[in-house]
Amino acid sequence: MNGVTIIQTKLDDHQSKKWFYSLMDTYEKPVDDIKNDDVFLAMTNEKAIGRVALYKNELRRLFVVPEYRQNGIGKQLVVSVIELARKKGVTQLELRTRASMTPAIQLYTQLGFIAQSTPIANFQFVMRKDL
Ligand SMILES: CC(C)(COP(=O)(O)OP(=O)(O)OC[C@H]1O[C@@H](n2cnc3c(N)ncnc32)[C@H](O)[C@@H]1OP(=O)(O)O)[C@@H](O)C(=O)NCCC(=O)NCCS
Repeated sequence: MNGVTIIQTKLDDHQSKKWFYSLMDTYEKPVDDIKNDDVFLAMTNEKAIGRVALYKNELRRLFVVPEYRQNGIGKQLVVSVIELARKKGVTQLELRTRASMTPAIQLYTQLGFIAQSTPIANFQFVMRKDL
């Protein structure tokens, strides 16, 4: 999407942490457990509108602000994680999602992630991609 830049950062950077928090939903766990993750933020007009994190071989915390969705930003974020994981020598990238997260599942499938079990109700299930 025009005017959107993806930046790579870490949450020990004060400004990045502020931006990341600006995208937090109340149901989400606190951000402390991702402070060592590599983080990508989608930025426009100095405002964060999307994010994703990589911890070891796990992609987590993918989110795009609703009014910016379906513009390719989610895909750009996931591709950024795939490229970084490859650079770090990760051979299998993993994530957890839920059956209700249809857009996310579509996106992951399009990028080559494969469900490791049949999604049941709204339980979490694992998807993996060989790199
Ligand atoms: C999942 C999410 C990040 C996608 O972000 P996005 O910027 O809208 O995604 P993109 O525009 O890059 O779309 C990429 C692909 O995702 C899929 N997709 C996106 N929105 C979709 C929708 N509403 N319905 C079905 N598939 C959808 C499509 O496969 C799409 O590819 P296409 O454009 O070639 O059809 C966004 O919907 C979101 O933040 N959802 C809530 C949080 C969430 O579910 N996170 C995942 C946790 S595991």
